[in-house]
Amino acid sequence: MEEKILIRHAAISDIPLVVDLWQEHQEYHAALEPWFERSENPNPGFQQYLEEHLDDLGLFVAEVDKSLVGFILGEIASRPPCFAERKYGMIDDLAVTAAWRGKGIGKKLLTAMSAWFKENDIHRIETRLLLANPLAGRFWQAAGFTAYMNNVYREV
Ligand SMILES: CC(C)(COP(=O)(O)OP(=O)(O)OC[C@H]1O[C@@H](n2cnc3c(N)ncnc32)[C@H](O)[C@@H]1OP(=O)(O)O)[C@@H](O)C(=O)NCCC(=O)NCCS
Repeated sequence: MEEKILIRHAAISDIPLVVDLWQEHQEYHAALEPWFERSENPNPGFQQYLEEHLDDLGLFVAEVDKSLVGFILGEIASRPPCFAERKYGMIDDLAVTAAWRGKGIGKKLLTAMSAWFKENDIHRIETRLLLANPLAGRFWQAAGFTAYMNNVYREV
């Protein structure tokens, strides 16, 4: 039997489980790129941030059989007054736990997030992705996102 995937706004009681999913997501990134190595104990600070700002954030979760298997986090970001367009949607995190990938959950979370941005009169959305992350490149390209800037770095 096919499991029913429910996409919904996160409630405050979901936040500890979102933080667990975020940790898995961060560890995945840190394994690909040492710059994303986590600090000593980042979870309580992130939990507090989500709890305090939940009303202003776009935070959606994917639930299967009463378990949370993925989330997406977005915010309405502002640009300086020198730009004609001041507001845009920034997707900060998208993660589906490893066992549930490839079943369309990421796509469903992005659909909910996009609708939330539109409801808030935001018509351009952006995200950042790690070039070393093969999953992200394919996902965002399939979702119609186009690269328009590169982050470059060097050690000094
Ligand atoms: C990226 C991620 C969120 C995608 O979630 P998902 O639920 O597995 O993705 P979906 O099943 O909705 O896939 C949507 C589309 O993305 C592409 N895609 C996703 N995973 C893919 C893979 N492993 N190989 C090829 N294409 C893939 C496909 O085009 C797919 O559409 P299709 O199934 O109709 O072909 C998930 O892989 C993940 O959590 N990865 C670790 C964290 C991460 O990389 N987050 C993104 C941060 S920028």
